[in-house]
Amino acid sequence: MRTPNTAPTQGELERQNQFMQKIAALNEKMERKPRFFINTFGCQMNAHDSEKINGMLQKMGYEPCNEEKDADLIIYNTCCVRENAENKVYGNLGYLKHAKKDNPNMKIALCGCMMQQPTVIETIRKKYRHVDIVFGTFNLYKLAELIWTNIESGSPVFDIWDKHGEIVEDLPAVRKYKYKASVNIMFGCNNFCTYCIVPYVRGRERSRHPDDILKEVRTLAADGVKEVMLLGQNVNSYGRGLDTEITFARLLRMINEVDGIERIRFMTSHPKDLSDELISAMAQCDKVCDHIHLPFQAGSNEILKRMNRRYTKEHYLELINKIKTAIPDIAITTDIIVGFPGETPQDVDETIDVVKKVRFNGAFTFIYSKRTGTPAAEMPNQVPEEEAKANFNRLLDAVNPIVYELNQKKVGNTYKILVDGVSSDPLYVTGRTEDNTLVHFKGCKELIGEIVNVKITDCKTFYLIGELQ
Ligand code: 5AD
Ligand code: SF4
Repeated sequence: MRTPNTAPTQGELERQNQFMQKIAALNEKMERKPRFFINTFGCQMNAHDSEKINGMLQKMGYEPCNEEKDADLIIYNTCCVRENAENKVYGNLGYLKHAKKDNPNMKIALCGCMMQQPTVIETIRKKYRHVDIVFGTFNLYKLAELIWTNIESGSPVFDIWDKHGEIVEDLPAVRKYKYKASVNIMFGCNNFCTYCIVPYVRGRERSRHPDDILKEVRTLAADGVKEVMLLGQNVNSYGRGLDTEITFARLLRMINEVDGIERIRFMTSHPKDLSDELISAMAQCDKVCDHIHLPFQAGSNEILKRMNRRYTKEHYLELINKIKTAIPDIAITTDIIVGFPGETPQDVDETIDVVKKVRFNGAFTFIYSKRTGTPAAEMPNQVPEEEAKANFNRLLDAVNPIVYELNQKKVGNTYKILVDGVSSDPLYVTGRTEDNTLVHFKGCKELIGEIVNVKITDCKTFYLIGELQ
């Protein structure tokens, strides 16, 4: 691993532009444009990074294709939050070894969180020698330079940094949707929850300057974007360490003023940092959606303490009460882990108690996955898989009926839906309410990107069915 250079942001971008131009000139001479395929694993942060990779590659003269088998350049943007995401990458890489025998010109690049782990790099060097380019989470913007080095040298290029350099602004990006976009407001995480690998692979917290964020949001609005999703591992601590006085609540109020933007979402919030100031900003800003994703992870205070979450069950419930009082229609979603080391069925009862008291509109539920290098991996009493699964099923039996009941309450009401795309049945389109519930209704693809009124006629556990008004 290398420690990053700290070249000035603007200069670095110009350097990368020169590499992009050199590659574009090479690609122009090809019989046809070379094709790329990006396989993105993990969270919205990775999905957004893939939009930047897409933007850079198109600037280099590559064109996107829909299937891996048609690609000349395959990029895996990886995740390591849980073991199964890693196993999928290794499985696919095994398959690509054969594909590369049939097409020796195919290039394979790996990036993202998994690549920040030295043991992974060792494994790739030893067992997956057909990989051409490997980079990490801190030097994504160097993609053009890495591709150029690989072309020139004809040898594999590994470039992994052990910490972040400057935030590089203004990378080109090709957005997946025309009318909605993600915006990074900060990178990294300082919380060190004991089960979580993220702080080790995404580095320390650093916030983007509000002027840069606002400039990006204004540009997006001018480009037809109606909904922005503000991304950070812990948005509630936005602004710490900047040379200007700013909080996340103030940032929300500033973005709320941008003409053209109609919906503002954000994730993820950490309960320990969620301020009264933020709750007021959410209640008062008309464009901020009535939805908060507030992971609680576990209900037992003993487990929360060993997870290093720095709040108690009581504090979390109090916070929820405050939010529901200030914003009565708010939808609350969460993340929950079952099977943390030492967790007993009684501890899981505490988690289920929180589920029943809060009544979440949705929950991402996970079985604890041991991540080498995190403190929890060294803790005694790792929970046997069978026991974790039984507790996990008990948890789902508590979560799902509540989600269904909350959805059922929406039947008969009319909501504003931002239409996202065509459903699996081509006569139907899908979209989301302001509180982020998925809705299917009869409509044509011309509605995509529009905000329309839909009356809810029926509901399932994970989505609603409606009629266009
Ligand atoms: N095992 C299982 N789930 C995890 N998460 C983070 N680390 C782990 C792990 N080691 C979950 C948390 C987090 C979400 C993004 O992923 O619930 O909020
Ligand atoms: Fe991981 Fe905790 Fe940081 Fe979230 S807040 S990214 S769970 S360490």
